[in-house]
Amino acid sequence: MPLRIDILTLFPELFGPFLSTSIPKRAAEKGKVEYCLTQIRDFATDAHQSVDDKPFGGGPGMVMMAPIVFDAVEATEKQDSRPATRILLTPQGKVLDQPLIEQLAAKERLLLIAGHYEGFDERISQGLAPLELSIGDYVLSGGELAAMVVIDAVVRLLPGVLGAADGAADETFADGLIEYPQYTRPREFRGMDVPDVLLSGNHGLIARWRQEQRKERTRQRRPDLWQAYERKNQA
Ligand code: ADE
Repeated sequence: MPLRIDILTLFPELFGPFLSTSIPKRAAEKGKVEYCLTQIRDFATDAHQSVDDKPFGGGPGMVMMAPIVFDAVEATEKQDSRPATRILLTPQGKVLDQPLIEQLAAKERLLLIAGHYEGFDERISQGLAPLELSIGDYVLSGGELAAMVVIDAVVRLLPGVLGAADGAADETFADGLIEYPQYTRPREFRGMDVPDVLLSGNHGLIARWRQEQRKERTRQRRPDLWQAYERKNQA
């Protein structure tokens, strides 16, 4: 059974090119994932098809209305008997990392809610109890790009999506270290050479060099990851 990913959005058209290109497309073609778009505005009930309104208490911007998002979520969930892991994309959420992506890739159904405007009525979080996820400490104008980030990172982990040759096993973050430097032809370019060890044909030596590079680069560039790595490998 393919992973079902429901996407609730006011801008389903943003997802078309993304879902029909590269890895997200390949994953669907291989039957590993199925994408289902729901237009939140279809659940609006007034003459203007409103989905948002002014915040109680005043202040700038507009707020997504709870009844409409509830109706959209409940109607979408009824389309399939599998329970969905509900995810709300918001800068107030837990910041996404690779272990979290791995957990999501193990689910059978994800339901992503991408909002727009200033935010969501708090009762959406309260009543639907979604996992609230952020893709980083900056503010986007909507959750759509964040939803695409989640989808891209998840579907490439589904078994059989990436070939063995470009597998996801030994890359950045699989074990908490960033990637080693890569080179391809030409051997010399504008005075910059490929490290000799990579041309040595000695696979043991190459593996050791790469692992050292990963550690060194993580230590220099990502002291936060390096600390976590050291802690884990002391235990
Ligand atoms: N919506 C707006 N900004 C966001 C962010 N950084 N992550 C997830 N969803 C968002």
